[in-house]
Amino acid sequence: GSFFAPIQQAAPPSPTKRHIKISIIGTGNVGMAIAQTLLTQDLADELALVDALPDKLRGEMLDLQHAAAFLPRTKIVASTDYSVTAASDLCIVTAGARQISGESRLNLLQRNVSLFKKIIPPLVQYSPDAILMIVSNPVDVLTYIAWKLSGFPSNRVIGSGTNLDSSRFRFLIADHLDVNAQDVQAYIIGEHGDSSVALWSSISVGGVPILSFLEKRQIAYEKETLVKIHKEVINCAYEVIQLKGYTSWAVGYSVANLAWSILRDQRGIHPVSVLAKGFHDIDDGEVFLSLPAQLGRGGVLGVINVPISDEEAEHLRRSAKTILEVQEQLGV
Ligand code: 2OP
Repeated sequence: GSFFAPIQQAAPPSPTKRHIKISIIGTGNVGMAIAQTLLTQDLADELALVDALPDKLRGEMLDLQHAAAFLPRTKIVASTDYSVTAASDLCIVTAGARQISGESRLNLLQRNVSLFKKIIPPLVQYSPDAILMIVSNPVDVLTYIAWKLSGFPSNRVIGSGTNLDSSRFRFLIADHLDVNAQDVQAYIIGEHGDSSVALWSSISVGGVPILSFLEKRQIAYEKETLVKIHKEVINCAYEVIQLKGYTSWAVGYSVANLAWSILRDQRGIHPVSVLAKGFHDIDDGEVFLSLPAQLGRGGVLGVINVPISDEEAEHLRRSAKTILEVQEQLGV
């Protein structure tokens, strides 16, 4: 007999009870940081891991499973075969080739496009209703590639984008003012990386718009400090990579935060990479860039039309143009 005896007159589980499944493609440092943060959140009933390296994959799966006594219950499965991802609600793609020394960005991209041609079609085949979350770099171009390869509507293809840059920005402002980063509202939009745009006029601390506050009080104008902080946001990923070889913990929390908003239908606003065509006069072609987007069970529910200065809009359009040129060279 089995360990448990059935109780009298038991009914099968309610078919309306939702089983939440998340898949992570790529079990490198980023994929595993996301996995471990997700496990602490009690968000998923099932977590599927996929990687091309079977030993590394099985080792990571076992290591996570061994934490079961300390975590909310999540079934953890892993395979090199995409069938393990079947019926996922959210597929998070972190797989990507790494830049080899002397290699151009475009060449790296070309290799990652080839990789995505092997990843995206089977994900779509096994989870036709899933939301795709792209984390691999360069994230904005790869989110576009994933969108094209998937055939999904654009609301179901999201790049993790500047959600992370915005957290770095909020941390640095909070650190400077000695307040809690969660009380700092500040957004970085545009390209994840070098050409990102900081939305100066919407920075607020505890609900107080900081620039106009400082101006009104004639406190020594701190815009310079903020510009320095934005430069630091751009440089700090390079610094971390130089120091430890890669970034992982912050991106892990950033993506888990997005997963929570989506799967728990939180309708939270996050700067993430979305199809930006039509916003801020980005009209030349189809390009993904981070904009403050509302996220919920349907994926991208809408994009906030934030008022931005002409200079910021110009900056955004320049990023869009650069990305479009790269996309054209790729011939996707
Ligand atoms: C990061 O910003 C490298 O995109 C990665 O941490």
